[in-house]
Amino acid sequence: MTPKPSPFAGPLEIALRSALSHLGSLDHQPAAASATLSQLRARLAKPLNDSGISPEAVITDLVRDVQGGLLGSAGGRFFAWAIGGSVPAALAADWLTSAWDQNAALFACGPSAAIAEEVAGEWLKDLLGLPTSASFAFVSGCQMAHVCCLAAARHALLLERGWNVERQGLCGAPPLRILASNRHGSVERAVRLLGLGEGNVLDLGLDRNERVTAGVLRTALETAPGTATVVLLQAGDLNTGAFDDYREVIPIAREHGAWVHVDGAFGLWAGASPHFRTLLDGVADADSWATDGHKWLNVPYDSGYAFVARPAVHRAAMSHRAPYLVHDQDARDQIDWNPEWSRRARGFATYAAIRQLGRAGIADMIDRCCRHAATIVEGIGQLPGTEVLWRPQINQGLVRFLDPRAGATDADHDRFTGAVIQSVLEDGDVFFAGTTWRGRRAMRVSVLNWQSSDRDAHAAIAAIGRCLTAQQAKVATSPATSF
Ligand SMILES: Cc1ncc(COP(=O)(O)O)c(C=O)c1O
Repeated sequence: MTPKPSPFAGPLEIALRSALSHLGSLDHQPAAASATLSQLRARLAKPLNDSGISPEAVITDLVRDVQGGLLGSAGGRFFAWAIGGSVPAALAADWLTSAWDQNAALFACGPSAAIAEEVAGEWLKDLLGLPTSASFAFVSGCQMAHVCCLAAARHALLLERGWNVERQGLCGAPPLRILASNRHGSVERAVRLLGLGEGNVLDLGLDRNERVTAGVLRTALETAPGTATVVLLQAGDLNTGAFDDYREVIPIAREHGAWVHVDGAFGLWAGASPHFRTLLDGVADADSWATDGHKWLNVPYDSGYAFVARPAVHRAAMSHRAPYLVHDQDARDQIDWNPEWSRRARGFATYAAIRQLGRAGIADMIDRCCRHAATIVEGIGQLPGTEVLWRPQINQGLVRFLDPRAGATDADHDRFTGAVIQSVLEDGDVFFAGTTWRGRRAMRVSVLNWQSSDRDAHAAIAAIGRCLTAQQAKVATSPATSF
């Protein structure tokens, strides 16, 4: 008897061909979107169909309709935000994760998924130089890793003050504040989700190297001694890649009974490179750490990791039991550590990325990204009419474009910087994005993709040079401040 053809074969084969064609075109297709909002809506907003459509037709239409609306973020010429690509084994494992469709809530629902995650979690701690005794959770991203870690912090700090937050909630609970170093907006959202209140996040003053100093931290801690406090430190600021001095400040937080949480969305990965590891000296003494796989490890979205130094605290904040659940005495049930119930088996892609690259491959990828960031920033800095605001310490740098007209003001330079970035996006060869840093508009240089090469770095400098020259010519004839 001939076996029945699989209903999956057709759509999966189209998906494979399309994926290979997309990945193969990243080097020569525009890195920016070329389709407009209304074009994409016109193509994708089809009437809700009454009858089904063949899976082959659905996937063929999808591939056609998204054309021009996909950024080149999977490729090596994408230097915006903090976006990594996907190494091939991680992408393939991610596809299989969907095909296997395991519910990675419990060992009982997906034994291999549970073990792959358990193993990958141990490897991550090893690579990042975190304590082997720490617990971990695989979550959707760094923001949810903050939620997980800060839930553990909330549990511990309030329990020390006689309050069981999981049972009693927050109404009437002792106050809790977050003293934050250079903080990313995801911290605010995590704090909001946990009911801690954005108003209780207090920003600490930073020094010129974007670090919290011992004096500033001590003064803040002494302002309301005895208050439940999280000290939030930075490992790789979004704009500058700055790191706090953990050796200096963690002991001060400890003296005051604070919980120390580290946002290392990408910067914690510097710990995987012998060349950059010293930036993280002392970070292992914190209470919790949040990072991402979808940034510098080059695992597909969505992949974040939370680590907590005291597993019992982590588990108390997350675990749940229900009569219908099945638990294995000896296995690791993800529901004990994760905020979700049903969830994707995220461990497979991380497991595959780490195996493909190995310890040396990860270190090499980190080093290459840092080298390319330096090349791009130096190259742009040599173009006339540019200002380097931040030379990369790791993989992040900041540059600014100066309005060439006599008497141009800071506001003109801001506008001119925005115009050059816009023109780079229209040029399409490479992709960058802007930011406001210390009150001035700047372009961020952020390199996290394993595929970025020397050629891509030089293509970036050339594209910026082209667009800058064109914008300089454009404004040269108009009066200052009217640009
Ligand atoms: C420093 C920092 N922290 C946290 C985040 C949030 O990470 P995610 O988008 O994975 O939730 C980012 C994202 O860019 C970041 O750069």
